[in-house]
Amino acid sequence: MSFARQAYAQVQRRAFTASARQSSKVTVLGAAGGIGQPLSLLMKLNPRVSQLALYDIRLGPGVAADISHINTKSTVKGYDPTPSGLKEALSGAEIVLIPAGVPRKPGMTRDDLFNTNASIVRDLAKAVADAAPNANVLVISNPVNSTVPIVREIFKSKGVYNPKRLFGVTTLDVVRASRFVSEIKGTDPADENITVVGGHSGVTIVPLISQSGHTDIAGEKLDALVNRIQFGGDEVVKAKDGAGSATLSMAMAGARFAESLLKASQGEKGVIEPTFVESPLYKDQGVDFFASKVELGPEGVEKIHDLGKLTTHEEKLVEAALADLKKNIQKGVDFVKANP
Ligand code: 2OP
Repeated sequence: MSFARQAYAQVQRRAFTASARQSSKVTVLGAAGGIGQPLSLLMKLNPRVSQLALYDIRLGPGVAADISHINTKSTVKGYDPTPSGLKEALSGAEIVLIPAGVPRKPGMTRDDLFNTNASIVRDLAKAVADAAPNANVLVISNPVNSTVPIVREIFKSKGVYNPKRLFGVTTLDVVRASRFVSEIKGTDPADENITVVGGHSGVTIVPLISQSGHTDIAGEKLDALVNRIQFGGDEVVKAKDGAGSATLSMAMAGARFAESLLKASQGEKGVIEPTFVESPLYKDQGVDFFASKVELGPEGVEKIHDLGKLTTHEEKLVEAALADLKKNIQKGVDFVKANP
């Protein structure tokens, strides 16, 4: 390596270490649940996090005490399920992760969770809007296609909505897509970067396999792969047999998305993740939110990418997704209107 290149590499390393040292408070709402516990654990292992605030309607302080013994630098605090506990947990947060709510049982769709989870997310969103209006809000609670619009409506009603800081976490669909493709191709899933667009439920999940370079996955093979990615969550719900839905893989996905945001806010360029955000892509068709590749930056959403070139088959999948998404989004908006 030439001297100039060595010096450049050293500067890059220093810049990375300096940025990794910046302080970031991450709050998990629903930290003692099936997703919340492994998600909190993964955030404790992340050196970009300096403070971890864990809140739940029960066991927040217990989970925090447990995780706080892990020998990484961040401080961990659990909060009591009181309005002041919630407020304190949120105050100063850069990232708020919301996995709170109930999971599916076999035979249920994510939409079947709406009645329970809509009011949980609405109430938490009110607290976030009051105590951490500038935080990046990462919604995991299902049905994501509706809970993200619920958060927008609450933030709007309080005059603090910033579309660049509200995200529905769809990373698990991306994670599943790369895993399932690698199983077919015998490749390393870490090398498979599959773009998944649309939303986070059934046919709203649209993997763009044609853009992955695997043109040999076609016909029935392609249909089976797309179906497995769209309904991958059901495999877990069925296997857990009444005891819940994906928690561990979902926690990994949530932690990956949070890590991407932290990287971007700490100065790394070119951080791109598919995520469900308020998007101009299909607004003219009445679909305000849509997941596509989003470049992240210090202000949250930096750039929303369009879908690029699609096959006729993928165009049809997007059409089906839009029809469902429109209803799911409206359901969230209507809920807040009727139950402010
Ligand atoms: C899933 O995709 C829990 O929505 C989550 O399995």
